[in-house]
Amino acid sequence: MSRRPRILIVGAAGQVGLELQRSFSDTGEITCRDRDTVDLAVPDQVRAMVRSATPEIILNAAAYTAVDRAESEPEVAMAVNAQAPGILAEESLRSGALLVHYSTDYVFDGAKVGPWVETDKPNPLNVYGASKLAGEEAIQQVGGKYLIFRTSWVYGPHGSNFLLTMLRLGRERDSLNIVDDQIGAPTTSIELANATRTIVSGVLAGQFGTTSDWAGLYHMTCGGSVSWCGFARAIFTRAQTLLDGKMPAVYPISSSGYPTPARRPQNSVLSNEKLCARFSVRPAPWESALDEALRRLALPPLPA
Ligand SMILES: NC(=O)c1ccc[n+]([C@@H]2O[C@H](COP(=O)([O-])OP(=O)(O)OC[C@H]3O[C@@H](n4cnc5c(N)ncnc54)[C@H](OP(=O)(O)O)[C@@H]3O)[C@@H](O)[C@H]2O)c1
Repeated sequence: MSRRPRILIVGAAGQVGLELQRSFSDTGEITCRDRDTVDLAVPDQVRAMVRSATPEIILNAAAYTAVDRAESEPEVAMAVNAQAPGILAEESLRSGALLVHYSTDYVFDGAKVGPWVETDKPNPLNVYGASKLAGEEAIQQVGGKYLIFRTSWVYGPHGSNFLLTMLRLGRERDSLNIVDDQIGAPTTSIELANATRTIVSGVLAGQFGTTSDWAGLYHMTCGGSVSWCGFARAIFTRAQTLLDGKMPAVYPISSSGYPTPARRPQNSVLSNEKLCARFSVRPAPWESALDEALRRLALPPLPA
């Protein structure tokens, strides 16, 4: 595609949506949509949003992400995480647009030893995971030009996430108890958006062949793995300037010591091998991605 494509970013005000706006800013004509302009739980609004924007690329970063609340609001979670992606896929197929969608490590039950691969059988432990799995399936059933990126433990400089919560608690408290028996790959919104941009640009340039060569589901996380407790310790060790020199003590606890409405998988680590083999893209190790997120937080805000 030689001219700048029309790009629709759905969920543009979320953590990943904001970074997609940054990483795609020089790629095309961007239309942003979020809750103030569309309710994704209403099918007619989803269709109308796509038809009025006439995008050539749809980046769907929207989701019902309140994992614990989803246990008591399964209908809304299913509408936003399963039904809406299905409609986006239908609209993409109808117009020939490329649909990029994100899914989650929570489609798995965490019982595997070693990283999960795309062919492993999903078995979600909670409503959020089940709704995201249904969203993947809805898109795959429609087919067409789609990319589904399953990711994990997303955080970054904006939004509501583990890093920003730890930085706040680190300033307020002398000690913290953090779950140590769930492992995963903390993944920044920055790395996700950059990897997405590289892959989408390659797809548009015909670098990866025809649709049947690249369309499908891929795992996309930062490299390595750590427990929530280990991640918290790494944050406090690396974020000294943001914490005014404070270093809270971090004590490991088991998941049973921190009961939540939704069960979570113990092993959330996803293998990136398929992504790397197909697109030659390998997101940064989680430690250097954390350093980059902290560097962004330490930067003075840009002038308005
Ligand atoms: N966060 C994680 O740890 C994680 C892990 C694995 C995968 N993922 C996936 O990664 C993707 C991006 O997640 P994220 O962390 O960037 O999520 P996020 O920060 O929660 O952003 C999601 C966006 O979707 C919007 N949204 C939710 N319901 C909506 C509705 N009914 N109508 C319109 N907009 C609605 C939200 O608006 P409001 O803020 O107003 O609700 C928010 O702006 C999602 O597909 C998610 O499932 C996330």
